Amino acid sequence: MKKPVIAIDGYSSTGKSSISKIIADKLGLIHMDTGALYRGITWYALQHCLDEKGTIDLNRLFSSLHQIELEFKNHDGILILYLNNTDISKEIRSNEVSDHVSLVAKQKEVRDFLLQSQRSLAEKGGVIMDGRDIGTVVLPDADYKFFLTASIDERTNRRFLELSGLGIQADREQVKQNLIERDKIDSEREIAPLRKADDAIIIDNSALTKEETIKLILSYIQNF
Ligand code: C5P
Repeated sequence: MKKPVIAIDGYSSTGKSSISKIIADKLGLIHMDTGALYRGITWYALQHCLDEKGTIDLNRLFSSLHQIELEFKNHDGILILYLNNTDISKEIRSNEVSDHVSLVAKQKEVRDFLLQSQRSLAEKGGVIMDGRDIGTVVLPDADYKFFLTASIDERTNRRFLELSGLGIQADREQVKQNLIERDKIDSEREIAPLRKADDAIIIDNSALTKEETIKLILSYIQNF
């Protein structure tokens, strides 16, 4: 039987990626963290496409997109993002990337560049993909759609702990402001804004542990 296609969207730091990864392992699905792709392009832009003032030159980025190859490689069950064969999995979590990613992600050229590879991955089924526009734009025919949300304080806490775990120094208030700002840009952008698909199930996991959220999502997924 064909394995399902599952779309997980939602606000920043609701645990989408780590939850999707565990569900993928449990159900034998491929997991794609699409936020990592936008972060990868942003990291590239910060390395190669800055103007004299130190801001990202979007036109230079657009004309360089064809030179960027993004690939997830499996290292003992952990997916590592490579950009042109360089492991950038830690770099893409930096505060600098977080501060610029929503500006890069709202560009049509960037979204178009990443769309096809996301769709191709899901063609044969057996995929769980997390992001902001998976249920609405990338995979509108997904078998299951979930939309994750949680209070801003809880999300700040989670992101702060994630950064500490990676050894990245962060200020709690700045982390909170970055989440608020990103969610605002992501929700208000013209192309593929962050919003719940009409047929997605909302899960507010402010008071749920990761394990409880996973259990709840799995309770909706029938045998396949
Ligand atoms: O999921 P994560 O927080 O790593 O995503 C980083 C950023 O990438 C988001 O704030 C958003 O700007 C962008 N993104 C997007 N569409 C997706 C996934 C992420 O625009 N499907």
